[in-house]
This record gives sequence, structure tokens and C-alpha cells, in this order.
Amino acid sequence: PLVSMNDFLPRAKDNKFAVGQFNMNNLEFAQATVEAAIAENSPFIYGVSEGALRYMGIEFTVAMAKAAAEKSGLPIALHLDHGSSFEVAMQCIRAGFSSVMFDGSHYGLEENIALTKEVVRAARAMGVSVEGELGTIGGVEDDLSVDEADATLANPEEAIRFYEETQVDCVAIAVGTAHGMYKGEPKIHYDIIEKVASAIPVPVVLHGGSGVPDEAIRKAILAGVGKINVNTENQVACTNAIREVLNAKADVIDPRKYMTPARDAMVQVIREKMRLFGSSNQA
Ligand code: G3H
Ligand code: ZN
Repeated sequence: PLVSMNDFLPRAKDNKFAVGQFNMNNLEFAQATVEAAIAENSPFIYGVSEGALRYMGIEFTVAMAKAAAEKSGLPIALHLDHGSSFEVAMQCIRAGFSSVMFDGSHYGLEENIALTKEVVRAARAMGVSVEGELGTIGGVEDDLSVDEADATLANPEEAIRFYEETQVDCVAIAVGTAHGMYKGEPKIHYDIIEKVASAIPVPVVLHGGSGVPDEAIRKAILAGVGKINVNTENQVACTNAIREVLNAKADVIDPRKYMTPARDAMVQVIREKMRLFGSSNQA
């Protein structure tokens, strides 16, 4: 069965590794992630954005995640990514999600706390874990788009208060990463991670994990990051592999001819991330 993030996040924080959230966008993403996890004996989180949910349909999403958990026997959480309302979070829980994110980062602090608390109260009663967010993470992901100029770092004192009042199971804070591909190198504020992570018992979540240099990821984990989200790097690997096949062979019509190398390319990306995050052999 699917597990809540509390199945592995406390251990990740204590032992200084991070569990990857790999976004599920279709069947091949779901398969690639569990194939990589089986090879690495790693726990992981399927992240599903509201856009991906509309694309796949909630029934298929839950069925694919459950099939992966059953096939692998690994601890897998099915997590709503950047949930925008209490209603969407409840729909997901009712359909079988084991974890949800409520992203109230665009509200003021008081309202974010109040709304997140409601989700935590309902989710906890169902054994479902909750991620909250503070500060504004820049970049574009599906329905979310934040101009670089509007991206604001999280205030550590506010993040600590946010945790204390909401009792979320992990907290995403804006520390300098962004969604999508980076133009330059991200400037990660390790001091913010450190300040928040050392004051609360749950791990900090790093969004925008694609394109962050390995060394920066290692430092972020040491500072207290216990969950890292990766989507764009898999999208790039998938699409590049498809493009390569279609460019080389104009007569291809069987989707399996380009989806197979696309899936293989994602398996490689995910295995490397699992090793980098230290989640290999932690299942
Ligand atoms: O919520 C999902 C992520 O934060 C993914 O970010 O597409 O930059 O890897 P990314
Ligand atoms: Zn994100």
C-alpha cells in the first residue's frame, strides 16, 4: 500500500539524506520512477500537480501509484504537489492519495497558517501527511508562474512560527531555487535552511531540484533538507530522447519506439538523483 511521508521523512532528517519527489506526468514517468527505485532500493514520493491530475485523471493516477507500490513493495507516497485549496486536497485524499501539499504561499502569513491548519486537521485524521509552503519560489510549473522579481526568500522566524502553528510534516521554504530550468546557477541560502531546520523537528523541502549542482544538493541536505522535488530534468530527458528517435527515423509510428528510450533516459536521471540524495538502500 501507499505510505504517508512520515514513513521515511523522520529517518531522512535524522540520518541526513533526502527522499526525492519525482513528478508523475504519465504512465512512463510512473514506471521510470518505480523502476529506478527498485534498482536503488529507495523510498520515493510521486508528486502530482493539479495540471498533471487533470491530464491523467485522478483514477488513473491513484491506480498507477498503487500498482507501483504493490509491484515493488517499496515505501511510496502519492503526494498532491502545490495543492491550491482545501477542496482539491480532500478530493485527492478521498481518491487514495497518502500525502498532500497545501501551497498557501501566495496568501499573507496569517491566512496561510489558518488555511494550512485546516488541511492538516483533516489530513491527519486520515493518516495523510501534509507539506506547507512559505516564501515564494520563482519560475514556472504548470498553473504556477512567479516572476523572478516577485520571488521572495522565506523569513526563518516566520517559517518556524508557521511550523509551530500548523504542525505540518515538512515545510517547503523559498531559499533561492526556482521551478524549471535555470539560466545561471541558483544561489541557495543555506543559512535559511539551517536556521529553520535546526529549530523544528521536521525536514525542510527543496523545490526546483532540477539543474541544481550536485555539490549544492549535498550542502542543502547537510543543512536540513529532507525532501527534494524534481520534475523538469525528467521532462527534458524524456523529450530529448523522443526528439532523437523522431529526428533520426522519420517513418516511426509506433509510440513504443520512442517512449521506451524516453523511459530509459528517465530511469537514469532518477537513479542518479536517488544516489545523490542518499536515499538508495534506505527503503
Ligand atoms: O514541485 C515540483 C518541483 O518543485 C519541481 O521543480 O521542475 O524545477 O525540478 P523542477
Ligand atoms: Zn514546486
